[in-house]
Amino acid sequence: MKKIGIIGAMELEVEALKSKMSIRNKKEKASMEFLEGTLQGTEVVIVRSGIGKVNAALCTQILCDLFEVSHIINTGVAGSLKKEIDIGDIVVSVDALHHDVDVRIFGYPLGEVPQVGCLAFPADEHLANLAVSCCKEVNPDIQVYQGRVVSGDQFISDKQVKDHIIDNFQGFCVEMEGASIAHAAYLNHVPFVVIRAISDKADDSAEMDYPTFEKAAAAHSAALVEHMLPLI
Ligand code: ADE
Repeated sequence: MKKIGIIGAMELEVEALKSKMSIRNKKEKASMEFLEGTLQGTEVVIVRSGIGKVNAALCTQILCDLFEVSHIINTGVAGSLKKEIDIGDIVVSVDALHHDVDVRIFGYPLGEVPQVGCLAFPADEHLANLAVSCCKEVNPDIQVYQGRVVSGDQFISDKQVKDHIIDNFQGFCVEMEGASIAHAAYLNHVPFVVIRAISDKADDSAEMDYPTFEKAAAAHSAALVEHMLPLI
């Protein structure tokens, strides 16, 4: 049966979805509250994972083990890594990788976790294509891009750090959870997609832009997820 796990790192990334769902059950695990029920007639489990890669990986594993979700969607905000991708626009993952993993000393490419077998975790094509087509309907004024999401346990707000990430990873946007969700979903053979709306440019302007734009950006991404659900 189709059951969609929806993860947002912060409350503002899931609050609109939570307020619209019909809740059947609440379960707490690892200090996270998992809401089970329906949204747009679709079985969902919605959860705020908390920020960063460890929280996100834990949360994904719980969705797989305890709730046996069939698909995972990560909704939220991110910093843009491309000139043309503006605040408010949406990035849908083609794949996701960890920009803060470095085991080059033993021959692994920068970003690759040893012995996992891939550098970037591929997103589910059906989910990704659906996200793009729904975005054009729900948010016609916003540009939607399909590309790589890169994640690390850092908020990127420095041009030099941003340039290092761009040069090494060819990412479209940077955030702090997507690759862990992708990694855990990959190991569990659960299809996933990361959907992120741009809240800042991940450079010296990010400290100012992020608080100004995070709420509207998070709402764009959540509206898109809601629209996708019955079509999965
Ligand atoms: N989430 C939103 N903006 C971000 C940034 N600049 N770095 C990391 N995570 C983010």
